[in-house]
Amino acid sequence: KFLTAAALALTVSAGAVAAACDDGEIVIKFSHVTNTDKHPKGIAASLLQERVNEEMNGKACMEVFPNSTLYNDDQVLEALLQGDVQMAAPSLSKFEQFTKQFRIFDLPFMFKDINAVDAFQASETGQSMKESMTRRGLLGLEFWHNGMKQMSANVPLNSPADASGLKFRVQNSDVLKAQMAALGGSPQPMAFKEVYGALQTGVVDGQENTWSNIYGQKFFEVQDGITETNHGIIDYLVVTGTDFWDGLPDDVRDQLGTILSEVTQMRNGESTRVNEEAKQAIIDAGGVVRSLDAAQREEWVAVMKPVWDEFKDDVGQENIDAAQAFNA
Ligand code: LMR
Repeated sequence: KFLTAAALALTVSAGAVAAACDDGEIVIKFSHVTNTDKHPKGIAASLLQERVNEEMNGKACMEVFPNSTLYNDDQVLEALLQGDVQMAAPSLSKFEQFTKQFRIFDLPFMFKDINAVDAFQASETGQSMKESMTRRGLLGLEFWHNGMKQMSANVPLNSPADASGLKFRVQNSDVLKAQMAALGGSPQPMAFKEVYGALQTGVVDGQENTWSNIYGQKFFEVQDGITETNHGIIDYLVVTGTDFWDGLPDDVRDQLGTILSEVTQMRNGESTRVNEEAKQAIIDAGGVVRSLDAAQREEWVAVMKPVWDEFKDDVGQENIDAAQAFNA
């Protein structure tokens, strides 16, 4: 009894989720960086946990660690390879270090909306990208949607010239660094959980993210406003380690794969609505949202889109053409 209580105290003090796993169950730790509420990824991960723990009880057990409580995105891929966690869902920007093909998802104004992203991912090229890192020990299982990125800063952003000279937090991606440089801004790669503090203290002036991330991390509280640029996307790859996945008993792998695919289908269909609700919640909380008219938006396109040239060889012109066809 005493030992159990001591062990429990240790677990709680380490900030881990309450262990629901029984002896003999395969433990699947899922680490991610966003909040769980009003967020496409957070909601999907929670639903996945709930279904696995209910339907696979006795065989497998999932523990979700949200909010970067376990790892940030740069650490989590290494942790997957080490077997310290078994699943994660980093944004696609985090995979360019493994395969440059993924850069297509970061190119500004490549995809009109999340439906175009979905169609590209469902194509043969998109599906093959899930298996493009198996040599490195990582296997993509499903794409999860978030949504379109918006720009925010500590000054009003109406025309791209307003962004010139500002420091912008970016995810650690060469495309996103080039995009901010094209605006005349200074890109500052930084982990997601550091962004609020960096905006608040003026270490950076602005950032780009989806409505659900801007709301969930409260970025709007420490920015002048958010400009609805819809200039890029944030989407995720649910990823596992090949060693872990291949080592699962066939029935466990099949059932887990089926549940994951059902959760994906159900939640991907809701991601746009979740982001719209986050946008409204920002407005309701007093955040400033600026929209662009067609002519203003064209100015942003004209400044940012030339970045494609720099990365054409990495992503393949045929893939750019395929992606563009889905915008029609
Ligand atoms: C970011 O780093 O801004 C995002 O990738 C966070 C996330 O997972 O949505």
